Amino acid sequence: MAGLQQRRAQFIIIAALLYSLYILSVVVKPKRLLTRQLTLPDLDRQTIFQLPPHLQPLEDAGVDPAEVLALYDKNAVANQRSGQSRRAKTAQSKLVAKSRLFSRHPADAYTNFLWKCRTGEPRAVEVFETFVSLKHRIFEVRVASERYPMTYNPTIIALPPSSHYPFLIVARVRGGGFFQESLICEGKYIDEPFVNPWGFDVINRVIGCATNPRVLVVPQTPARDCTGIDFMSDVPGYHDPRIFWSNTGAPLMMFNQQSRYGCFGLWIIDLRSVYPSLRYRVTRGLLNQYPTVMELTRKEGRDPIEKNYLMFFDAETGAGYVQYEIGHGYRHFARLVGNGLTTSNMTSPFEVSCITEDATWHQATNAIKVVLCDYGECEPEPENTVYLAFLHKKEIPEEWKVQYKRYVAVWKSTAPFEMVGFGSKHVRFDNEDEWEQKFNVEGKFLYTVSIAWETNMNRYEGYLNENVIISLGVGDHGNAAVVMPVGDLMTCLRSCSHY
Ligand SMILES: *[C@@H]1O[C@H](CO)[C@@H](O)[C@H](O)[C@H]1NC(C)=O
Repeated sequence: MAGLQQRRAQFIIIAALLYSLYILSVVVKPKRLLTRQLTLPDLDRQTIFQLPPHLQPLEDAGVDPAEVLALYDKNAVANQRSGQSRRAKTAQSKLVAKSRLFSRHPADAYTNFLWKCRTGEPRAVEVFETFVSLKHRIFEVRVASERYPMTYNPTIIALPPSSHYPFLIVARVRGGGFFQESLICEGKYIDEPFVNPWGFDVINRVIGCATNPRVLVVPQTPARDCTGIDFMSDVPGYHDPRIFWSNTGAPLMMFNQQSRYGCFGLWIIDLRSVYPSLRYRVTRGLLNQYPTVMELTRKEGRDPIEKNYLMFFDAETGAGYVQYEIGHGYRHFARLVGNGLTTSNMTSPFEVSCITEDATWHQATNAIKVVLCDYGECEPEPENTVYLAFLHKKEIPEEWKVQYKRYVAVWKSTAPFEMVGFGSKHVRFDNEDEWEQKFNVEGKFLYTVSIAWETNMNRYEGYLNENVIISLGVGDHGNAAVVMPVGDLMTCLRSCSHY
């Protein structure tokens, strides 16, 4: 009897165990499914059988000519209207809409300071014959792993306030040959005391990795046609990454990789897909428009190798736009219509170019949105906001020597994003000479990679008195950055409305 009872008890215990295991598996399984759903599609496997939808050769969206006209009409009407309302209250402010451009924003009252050089006290800039020198010092950014001791062309954004460390850094590794990789780490300021040549104890401020740098892996894509450089068609690895925040607060990375339309093109991905710990920290940007790699298409003027695109987001509609190129007498931009697809060229043929010098111009950095007042002194409106980015003028002063000169460019924050002002001279930083000499290996230049707000305020735009961090590549051999109030960058510009 006792044996039977014991066996029954055993049976009950085992049954209870099995049941609890079953309950556990039911409870735990959905979680596993959830994380699986969030991982990237296995592109390698899918490309063999069938391309995922966003890689299928879709017809690009055309642009309805009426839409372009409407864009300019809307702004022309608004221009008139704001002219009238201004005239009504013109007593104290003699604002005359002298702009020959199409959109009304921003108002002259906000942009007037851009056309002055801030050489008075406190001095922001020193003006030389061919360049302006901003009174801010370049410092080192250190990104190195055991396998990759040398990196370059860093791109930096400020992490959300809930992060342990203030910065997210992506930098290209050097030494891979045609094969390209980039490291990612979270960074912080490190103050290093040292004795300078004059015997003074000083503090050297650098940004270094606070987490172990690791290779940032992005799904690979197929090239359509690499004629002439066929060996590049299946060399894995993206290059030229740039990280930035979108208007809705999504952490994006634009990068160069094999193209479905040519050899190389520009692609975009939400960093949360490739750097998952960001998912739990980003509180804005819940709209994930780029969960996996998506190519930014270009309907006109496509080259086998595309480079240096820029993104704008319309301050009134929130719509995303890509600006492919800008230079003396030309500009090309289009609206994003989803999955990276774009409309055709939306630049008005009547637009007057603000870049007067016929040279090789490249878009260097991403664009940030700046409110033209100090924090707390105005509310962001299309009236007082602009986009700001750096352009590079590429020069080859001697054979085998390339130089990039950086210029500040400012655009309107609403479509069609005409240029408002452009640097009258190129910009150099206080100790740039030292840095050029330090890494004087192949040509002398500091490459301007990206620009971002230094602290993450969980908002897209920043104000004149708020700091930006400008990431610099040091002659393909090192990383540096410079930090300053964005207002200090916005000096000695030439107005575009005088043309
Ligand atoms: C886009 O349109 C503008 C204005 O008509 C023109 O200057 C530019 O060359 C065009 N770009 C391309 C690539 O078609």
